[in-house]
Amino acid sequence: MNNARFSRIGFILAAAGSAVGLGNIWKFPYITGENGGGAFVLIYLMTIVFIGLSLFLAEVVIGRLSREDSVTAFETLAPKNGKLWKYSGWMVVNGVIILSFYLVVIGWIFKYIYISATTLPQNVENSSAAFGGMVTTDITNQLILFTIAFIITALIVSKGIKKGIEKANIILMPMLIVILIALLYYSTTLDGFSKAIEFLFVPDFSKVHSSSILAAVGHAFFTLSLGMGTIMTYSASLPKKTNLVRASAIVALLDTIIALIAGVVIFAIIFNFGAEPAQGPGLVFISLPAILHDMGFIGNIIGVAFFVALAFAGITSAVSILEPTVMAVINRFNTSRMKALIVLGLITYILGAMALLSNIEGIKEYVTFFGTGTFDILDFLSASILLPLGGMLVAIFVGFIIKKEVIYMLLKPYMNDTVFKIWYFSIRFITPLGVMIVMINKVFF
Ligand code: TRP
Repeated sequence: MNNARFSRIGFILAAAGSAVGLGNIWKFPYITGENGGGAFVLIYLMTIVFIGLSLFLAEVVIGRLSREDSVTAFETLAPKNGKLWKYSGWMVVNGVIILSFYLVVIGWIFKYIYISATTLPQNVENSSAAFGGMVTTDITNQLILFTIAFIITALIVSKGIKKGIEKANIILMPMLIVILIALLYYSTTLDGFSKAIEFLFVPDFSKVHSSSILAAVGHAFFTLSLGMGTIMTYSASLPKKTNLVRASAIVALLDTIIALIAGVVIFAIIFNFGAEPAQGPGLVFISLPAILHDMGFIGNIIGVAFFVALAFAGITSAVSILEPTVMAVINRFNTSRMKALIVLGLITYILGAMALLSNIEGIKEYVTFFGTGTFDILDFLSASILLPLGGMLVAIFVGFIIKKEVIYMLLKPYMNDTVFKIWYFSIRFITPLGVMIVMINKVFF
């Protein structure tokens, strides 16, 4: 079914484009700030290797073995009960949920490109009021910007794997990397730079709690785009002779390096002005703009560069959140890409608009269910329940359902037997256990 395949570099850039997103540039710095820095970074790096990378490779295995959409992949790779396993493949539907509020946040980023180019808020109070005001009162701008983010994403996906997704990533990813390296270079000139390095890379274990470990595992998942069929779907279009193991490692490495660069840049600026690292989600939208204001004109330039990079990272991820469902619907319902996109787009758009309105004063009552706004419901449902569930199904499927020899034959050219044994053990036992602990904690505590 997949006649259009990625080129080798196309796959790596697209998978990295998927992995590198708001998770790296917005979320990683703020959860690192909240969890005390270096020790958390160390735990995070370990979860990337032992849980993230294992699961990433497992998704690659499913995609590459089947070369089908996720639903068909589970159905055809299961030696028996394929009709039952195919429901696991429908984990791709989670994409519609994640995408809806992901696009709302990309809309905010567009607004912050504009704010950076014009007038930055003068201090943290103003900045906080401006951000809060936008989210809770400004329906028109938020809707327009959300719609623009939606249209860009849908347009790229409408052109398919090769002409849409690969092309967008080949253009946007190098630009993103260049901007981030320039920002990193600039951050080395700031007095806050050495403090940022110390904060991120010198571990102080007195600052981490058990909740930090949970946050690290949960984030390892989200940042590598695992648990909803994204990596699986992209891997179905891998070129024939790709070194699967090396490609996976490169993507995980790129994702990690970019998160660390974003962390260094943001904390160098934060520390340069003596601000606090533990700001929560407002770190990038509230603290950063206020500090950039104090830097004068250079602050405007840095701000535009930063938010443009964030927007690029967001769009390449948004595309990867939409494609798996589109691919599954095209194949399972025997329909065209355009029709699949219209139906899924419509659902995403309605959910996204509801999420957006659930933050608006005076309207939120209408889109609040069980006492929680749509935005928070979608976020909780996808990140705390559906993604870990998807990850667990992938781990069990690869670890216990697909025949070991089949997987061994596929991976043998790319890893030696010891590494295979470690990975296989990890995907059977460590990964499902880690994921289960996170899920139970998120849901019940
Ligand atoms: N990894 C992206 C980020 O860090 C988000 C993302 C893209 C994602 N595709 C996904 C998350 C699939 C979960 C599942 O922002």
